[in-house]
Amino acid sequence: MMKTKAEMSNVPEEKKESHLWNAMHRFNPGAEEVIASTGKGSWFTDEAGNQFLDGVSGLWCLNLGHGQQEIVDAAAEQMMKLSYFPLTMSHEPAIKLAGKISELLGADYQTFFSNSGSEANETAFKMVRQYHNQTGNPGKFKVISRYRGYHGSTLGALSATAQANRRVKYDPGVPGFLHVYPPYSYRSIFDGDPEETDLKAAQLLEEMINWEGEETVGAFIMEPFISGGGVIIPSTKYIQRVAEICKKYNVLLIMDEVVSGYGRTGEMFGFKHAEGVQPDIVTMAKGLTSGYLPLGATAVKSEIYDAFKEDGKDNHFRHVSTYGGHPASCAVALKNIEIIERENIVDRVRELGKSKLGKLHQLIDHENVGEVRQVGFLLGLEMVTDKQSKVPIDDGKMGKIIGACKEKGLIVGKNGDTVPGQNNVIIVAPPLTSTEDDLDFLVETLDSVIRSL
Ligand SMILES: Cc1ncc(COP(=O)(O)O)c(C=O)c1O
Repeated sequence: MMKTKAEMSNVPEEKKESHLWNAMHRFNPGAEEVIASTGKGSWFTDEAGNQFLDGVSGLWCLNLGHGQQEIVDAAAEQMMKLSYFPLTMSHEPAIKLAGKISELLGADYQTFFSNSGSEANETAFKMVRQYHNQTGNPGKFKVISRYRGYHGSTLGALSATAQANRRVKYDPGVPGFLHVYPPYSYRSIFDGDPEETDLKAAQLLEEMINWEGEETVGAFIMEPFISGGGVIIPSTKYIQRVAEICKKYNVLLIMDEVVSGYGRTGEMFGFKHAEGVQPDIVTMAKGLTSGYLPLGATAVKSEIYDAFKEDGKDNHFRHVSTYGGHPASCAVALKNIEIIERENIVDRVRELGKSKLGKLHQLIDHENVGEVRQVGFLLGLEMVTDKQSKVPIDDGKMGKIIGACKEKGLIVGKNGDTVPGQNNVIIVAPPLTSTEDDLDFLVETLDSVIRSL
């Protein structure tokens, strides 16, 4: 049972003088830090002995929870068998994993491995430029993404990330990245029901391609469901429509499945919700290994790969990652996928997403809850001062909600440092293996915190 705050012992003094530079952190030496020491299932324990349910799966990656012995064994065995090998040549776990990814995606794909989601997207952007160059369209270099979308932290991926607050003091980004209006029905500038406003947002993509000149646009990158930018879930018709537009203009569709891949949304991949859509490129990381080891992957349709087979100077993909596709990471990914399939994790997410996590929809009767958006185990609560004005609640109030949950032993997230004035979405994305009791605890805790606002 979780200890209450009053029972907490203090974090050791020496830890407070740590030389560690934390991510996304203001300098705040007085703040009480969480220093995790152990984890089991969906829970972790800090050094002071407090237990927390991780309602955001680390950074949306710990999909199978802590302590999967089979995954640990797979990594250890692989490390003993072949500790490292570069993918300038091949090794068995990478070959097997690339084959499995192609099978799961449902068409013939060729996969290039890296270490993270950012790198998977960087790799995709280089492939796009080279592909068009080698197929007679050297001018098609621009990449379009959506406002509020997140695609990573490195300069190219950050340039595709259209979240203004993430870019302050790092701009200018890489030339050739453009941003288009997202399918955000709750605050849409268009009239109509969500499907209609989403389709109008899709139309803006076509307009942008025409205004820019189709001969200059190489790719459109999208998360099937905008995740860190505030859990924005379009109608499936939107995804189908943008896929059609991309096809019409020979603009490659890059589906960023870094968060939504491997079961999070109640399908193996987010794009599978939209019937008939088969992206040209799929990028993935996080849930690919459930966070046990780093791994990124960029899977391209074999027709695209064909352009890289051409003999001739500089026609092969001149890109390498020392650790990308590490044998142990690939072995972990294979075991992770085996467990997801064997334990029917995708069905579980669909069912418990409805019957358990879905209870959070009841919060819509609260004055400060503007919208509850959910797909599988990915849920966002858009918090407003009142339903009429839809004015976002301020950062202080968001901090209070997150802090109060933490006091009760629940970690939830928010869309921090994304869009000016709109960091008002509470995010819930628990491990896909969370027990029914875990999910009840999550729902009851968040519900009671919000109702006591
Ligand atoms: C949709 C999406 N794409 C890419 C990334 C970047 O992944 P990484 O942090 O592994 O570089 C993230 C990370 O949160 C993400 O949410």
